[in-house]
Amino acid sequence: MLDVRHLTYTTVDGTTLLKDISFQVAPKAIVTLMGPSGSGKSTLLRTLNRLNEPAPGTVWLKERDITTIPVVELRRAVGMVFQSAALFDGTVADNVRYGPALLKQRLSDAECVALLAQVGLPAELLERNIGLVSGGQAQRVAFARALANQPSVLLLDEPTSALDPAATLMIEQLVRDLRDRLGLTFVWVTHNVAQARRVSDRTLLLVNGIVADWGDTGHLLDDTHHDLVQRFALGEDVSQLPVQPGGPHANP
Ligand SMILES: Nc1ncnc2c1ncn2[C@@H]1O[C@H](COP(=O)(O)OP(=O)(O)OP(=O)(O)O)[C@@H](O)[C@H]1O
Ligand SMILES: [Mg+2]
Repeated sequence: MLDVRHLTYTTVDGTTLLKDISFQVAPKAIVTLMGPSGSGKSTLLRTLNRLNEPAPGTVWLKERDITTIPVVELRRAVGMVFQSAALFDGTVADNVRYGPALLKQRLSDAECVALLAQVGLPAELLERNIGLVSGGQAQRVAFARALANQPSVLLLDEPTSALDPAATLMIEQLVRDLRDRLGLTFVWVTHNVAQARRVSDRTLLLVNGIVADWGDTGHLLDDTHHDLVQRFALGEDVSQLPVQPGGPHANP
C-alpha cells in the first residue's frame, strides 16, 4: 500500500530530520511508528501525505510516486487524525461534511449518520455542537470526518495521548474494526509500547531520524539482544544512544 524508499527529509533551513528511511506498509496493516520525543515521527508521518514534501521517488502509494498525485486527491486517499481532534466550531455534522464539501458534495443526514455509526457514535450526536462532546467522542468524530473522504490509509499522530485509558482502548478497538470491516491501512504514531503491542503488526523505531529497528512488533519488542529497543521499551531516553541504521530486524 505504502512504500518508503530511502527517504531523507531536510528542512528549508538545512536541518536533516529523516535519514535514509525505508519501510513498507502492506494493505490492511497497522504499523506503529515509535521513538523518543523529537526523533522525527510526526515529520515522517507528514511526508506520507505531503504535509511535508518528500523527494520524488521516495514515497509510493499503490505503486504511484505520491509527488505525482494531486495533493487534494492524495489527502483524501491518505487521511490524518491528530492528537487533539482538531475539529472546527459548529456541529458534529458540519465536521463530518467537511471533506466532501471541499468537492462541492453535500452529505445527506443519512450519510452522516452512517459515518457516525462506522465510528460507534449515535445518530443523536449529529446536530450537537462540537463543544459539547467528550474527548473520546470528539476523536471519533475526527475519524468519521476522515472516513467521509473514503480513504485507503489513515495516518494517526498520537490519537489517544489526550484520552483516558477507557477511551484509549475504545479507539484501539475502533481502528481494528475499521481495518477488518473497511479494509483500511493505518500508520500510527505512538509513545506507548503497550499500545504498539496491542494494535500493530509491525513497528518502526525511529531515533534521531534514523530507523533503529523495523519489523514484526512482537519480535522486535521481545528481542532481548537488541539493547536499544529494550532500553526504549523500558522507558529509558535513548535519543543520545548510537544507532545502527536499519536495525537487526530490518527487512526492506
Ligand atoms: N519545519 C521544521 N523545521 C525545523 N525543524 C523541525 C521542523 N519540524 C520539526 N522540526 C524538528 O524536528 C525534530 C523532529 O520533530 P517531530 O515533530 O517529527 O518529532 P516527534 O518524534 O514527532 O516528537 P514528539 O514525540 O515530541 O511528537 C524536532 O527536533 C523538531 O524540533
Ligand atoms: Mg510528534
